[in-house]
Formats: sequence, structure tokens, C-alpha cells
Amino acid sequence: MMIIFLHGFPFNKSAWDGQINRLSSSYKVQAIDLRGHGKAPSPPGPWMIPDFAEDIKNYIEGQKLKKVVLCGLSMGGYIALHFAATYPQYLSGLILCNTRADADSNETKDKRYESIKDIRNNGIENFAEEFSRKALGETSLNEKPELQKQVKEMILQNSPSNICMTLGALASRRDSTSYLSKINCPTLVLTGSEDRIVPPEVTESMSQKIPGAHFHKIPGAGHLSNLENPSIFDQNLMQFLLAIKI
Ligand code: MLT
Repeated sequence: MMIIFLHGFPFNKSAWDGQINRLSSSYKVQAIDLRGHGKAPSPPGPWMIPDFAEDIKNYIEGQKLKKVVLCGLSMGGYIALHFAATYPQYLSGLILCNTRADADSNETKDKRYESIKDIRNNGIENFAEEFSRKALGETSLNEKPELQKQVKEMILQNSPSNICMTLGALASRRDSTSYLSKINCPTLVLTGSEDRIVPPEVTESMSQKIPGAHFHKIPGAGHLSNLENPSIFDQNLMQFLLAIKI
């Protein structure tokens, strides 16, 4: 059974390097660059979340995999959730991290548009600095300043136009709350106690709508819980994988 990791916005598959290294002796694991990120192709836009989910379906079929466990963080979670609703036949487990099911509020849509305008006019330096700070929790910002630099570097590897195109996809995503009660594979929901992008209570309440889902809040971690507190993140992941016997 393959575990496929989907990174958040605007990162790339290297965000999962730690998990890939630590899990690969026990499991088949792969992290994927999502369209427009890392080394993935950038097909003509506009892009919408169903396009990203279809890319994953094509990848699974291309690799001739029957079923997978999908683990997505934030945007990766939006995509995993859409995938679960559209292609449930491919899923034997779902791990949703630092993510939410509802759509953007008007205020968030406005902020996305402000970011698009700022990036168009000024490039991505400011955006990368601000986003890398907001994504990390207070504990990481105080105790792991090198992590903020690493996250910023990852953001700067994206092209401005791909970031803008993905912002459009995020802002246009549907409210997926109605999907939650229909998820019928084992599901783990993780978040960080210091997440300032998706508040932990929002992720927790999403988990309560998924039949039988397990929820854990990772201490000392913000929005990038797998990078900020990898030992507790991995411990929860391993427990879940053992319990579902893949
Ligand atoms: C992410 O980490 O993927 C983004 O923060 C998602 C978002 O902005 O909605």
C-alpha cells in the first residue's frame, strides 16, 4: 500500500522529506509536487481544486496503484478531501492535516486578491517573508529561526504567476462540508495547537463530522505541524497506520 503525501501552498514535495525518510523503511511512501509547484508541470490556467485532485487520480492510475493512503496538509488537505469525494474507490485511508472543509470567507477572498495584486506589482519577496512567519507557530518562530528561513526559501522557489494561479484556485474552492459524513475510509485529522492560518478548533470541528475520524492536536506546532513538531506528528501517523494495518 502506498502512502502519498500532498504538500500545502505554496511549497513543494520537499516539505515531506522528514516523513519520507523516517517512514520509508516500514512503508511505501511518495510525496508529489502539485501542479505549478516544485518540478511539476504548469498547465495553462485557470486552475481549480478539482484539477489538482484529477492530477492525483491520473498519477495513481499511471503508477497502476489500486488503493492508496492520501495524506494532505492544508491545500493538500483541500485536494485530498475533494479526491475522497470524487474518487473514493482509490482510498484506503485519509490523513488530513491543518486543513478545513469550508470555503473561503469574503474576507479571506479579499486577502487572496490583495496578495495577487501585491505579487503582480512587487514580486514574491514580501509575500514569502510574511507567509513564512504566519505559517509557523510562536514556538517555532522563537526556537527554530532556521525553519522560517527554510520555509521562506521553499516559497521563493515558486514562480509569481504560479502562486497567483494557485491563489485563484484556493479562493474558488467549494465548501466541502457536505462530503465529510460520506467519507468511508479510516481517517486521521491532525493539526497544530498554534496554527494561525486554520484555527485548530476549525480543524477539530471538521474531524467531528467525519465518521470514526481520530483527531490530535500537536503541541508547539503551527500550520506546518509536520515540520514544526515532527516527532509527535510522526508518532500519530505511525499509530494510525498501524491501526489500519496497511
Ligand atoms: C496552505 O498551507 O496550503 C495554505 O495556507 C492554504 C490556504 O491558504 O488556504
